[in-house]
Parts: sequence; structure tokens; C-alpha cells
Amino acid sequence: MTSTAAGATVATPQGDAAPTLFTPVTLGRLRLPNRIVMAPLTRRRAAADGTPSDLMVRHYADRATAGLIIAEGTFLSPRSRTYLNQPGIVTDAHVAGWRRVTDAVHAAGGRIVLQLMHGGRVAMLPDAEERGIVAPSAIPIPGERRLPSGEVRPHATPRALRTDEMAGVVGEFVDGARRAIAAGFDGVELHGANGYLLQEFLAASTNHRDDAYGGSPANRARLVVEATRAVADAVGADRTGLRLSPGETRQGLEEGDTPETAATYAALTSGIAGLGLASLHVLSAHPASALVRGIRRDFGGPFIINSGFEVVTTRAEAERFLTEDLGDAVAVGRPLLANPDLVRRWREGRELNRPNPETFYTPGEAGYNDYPFLED
Ligand SMILES: Cc1cc2nc3c(=O)[nH]c(=O)nc-3n(C[C@H](O)[C@H](O)[C@H](O)COP(=O)(O)O)c2cc1C
Repeated sequence: MTSTAAGATVATPQGDAAPTLFTPVTLGRLRLPNRIVMAPLTRRRAAADGTPSDLMVRHYADRATAGLIIAEGTFLSPRSRTYLNQPGIVTDAHVAGWRRVTDAVHAAGGRIVLQLMHGGRVAMLPDAEERGIVAPSAIPIPGERRLPSGEVRPHATPRALRTDEMAGVVGEFVDGARRAIAAGFDGVELHGANGYLLQEFLAASTNHRDDAYGGSPANRARLVVEATRAVADAVGADRTGLRLSPGETRQGLEEGDTPETAATYAALTSGIAGLGLASLHVLSAHPASALVRGIRRDFGGPFIINSGFEVVTTRAEAERFLTEDLGDAVAVGRPLLANPDLVRRWREGRELNRPNPETFYTPGEAGYNDYPFLED
């Protein structure tokens, strides 16, 4: 691979011109000046009631040179909330707080969409049971959770949603999407990954239902398809994206890369392929697997790829994803967390700040707004 100056292309082994990280790309309504997308990163810096903070205004505005920012998983209702100091998109105060974030990002020349997150059975708050957490089936995550106080308790047991409640769940995503647009976001991404509610429906290990929302690949995919379609209807398909982590084994899920998983994701993609969505976004430790390639092929629209949690994305890997045509854009998490000017650093081949996991979820500025920009 040759040098990757802005706008240049490189020759693939096949001799075709492949885009570089610095080639513009269109995702639905948005034109991105480069293909480096900021992956959604939960940082728990909102106020106690979920209102976005001044720290968040600065954090996201500092990263406006990314092709696109996907803001962190944001709760849609009290029962969908997962983490302390997680931001919400429920109240007028939430909308006003996010408006300050989106205005600052736009003023800095950036683009930003919001990740809509329903936590399902994953609830790390002390009052999870009282808040009435829900899931496809009443199956807790195996093992224990550590509460913010340090206390260790078994994971909370969710209540199984009734069939007649499913429209209400879809409504939570639609309401969140509408409020996100009212808050100035350029679009939304439904969080269908990482073992939260939507993926709990996709995975046979967490979905033991025998109604229209469980029992077969098409039934397990039904809620994700319905929620995605409803959000696309509400705010425009070209402002709607979906994130998936096929084969997930986090958060007590046992999806695995099996024929059953492939069939479920095939049903999902066939339900959303014709909508004209802005993007499908997949995180996987195996981005070149038949499972992930199949999802991309069946979807057929703009595809964002991310390498998953095991190893931190490197520039070489991100470039390889494009030259091997594993995606149209690359989502990058921890490198952008630690380098607000990552796009410039990667373009110029400069040194990187290293992310400090000890401050990923701690309150305050440290490890959030104090990673330095390049000085020259
Ligand atoms: C601190 C932290 C918070 C994260 N929060 C979210 C989130 O809110 N939503 C989501 O879909 N993924 C989340 N992820 C996963 C990232 O989006 C990304 O997939 C992962 O970090 C791998 O990419 P990377 O190697 O470039 O960091 C989080 C990861 C980290 C490290």
C-alpha cells in the first residue's frame, strides 16, 4: 500500500483503486470528509439525571474532525437506562443539553449522530429491579455485578416483555429518535449490539419466547426490524443507522458464529435491506468472517466496520479494512478517545496518546478532556 495523502487512492492487489481513510464518503444524508468514524463510547460524564454536561460539549467538539461522530449509547426511558451518569434523551433538559453538544460540533465543522440504547437486562444501577428492567425472557446475566458503591450483587432478573408491550418498546426508540433530531443531531443509530435489549432478542440464549418475537430466526429478528423501520419512518431512513455485533459473547450472551446466528442475521438484513438506511455498522473481532461479509452483502448499503474490543484499532488495520473492502468507513473508538486530532495524526503519521482505561468511566475532566492535541 502506498502513501495515503488526503483524497488519494491506493492500488489494491487486484489493481482496483480502493479508497483511503481520507477519501470522502456518503452515508445517507451525510457527506463525510474522511472515513474515520468515532465509535460510540460510553464515558459516564453526564449529570446524575442524564443531562449532557459541559465536559461533554467540549469532548465532542474537540473531535469534530472525525468524518462522523457517533455519540455514546443514550437511554430512552427510565427502564432502558444501564449506567450511572449515562446520558439520556428523554426530558426537555436532556434535549437542551444535547443541543449544546450538537451546536458545538457543528460550529467546529463536524457531523454527529446519537446512539439510541435500550439496556434490556444489562443494568448496572442499584435500583435496577425497582426500575422494572425488561428483556425477551426473564433470564438474568449469569454471575454478579459490582455496583457504583462497590457492593457486589447478583445480576438483576429482568421481567419478560408481554407481546402487547412490543409496540411500546418500538415507541421508545421512535420517541428517542425524534428528540435526537430536535436536539440537532444529524441522525441516529439504533444500538443492536453488545448484548443490550435488541441483541437479547436476536440471541437464542437470551430469547426463549414462543410468540411472534422468538422461536425462529425471523421471529428473533422481528423487534430489531420493527424498531429500525419505525425509526426510519419517523426521522428518515437516510438519517437512520443500526449497529450490530454478530456472534456476540459479551454480557452473558452466547450467540456464537453458528448457522443459527447466520440465519437470524440473514432474516434481519432481509427486513432492512430495502429501506435505504444511512448505514449498517458492525463490530466484530472477525471482520473478514463469512458471517460479517454475508451481513454486508445482504444489506447492500453503506457499511461501517469496527474491529471489536479485543485489540485497539490501529491505522494499518483501519486502512486494511478499506483496501480489503470490508467496509465503506471504519469506526474507531479508543484511538479517538485518546487523540482528539486523530485524523491529523494518522494522516501525518504522528505519535499517538495512549488511552488510559482507568479513566474511561470516572467523573471529571481527567482522561476525558485533557488528552493533548498536537502542538505543531
Ligand atoms: C470506554 C468504552 C465505551 C464504549 N461504549 C460503547 C457504547 O456506548 N456503544 C457501543 O455500541 N459500543 C461501545 N463501545 C465499543 C466501541 O464502540 C468499539 O466498538 C470498541 O472500543 C472497539 O473499537 P476500538 O478498538 O477502536 O476502540 C465502548 C468501548 C469502550 C472502550
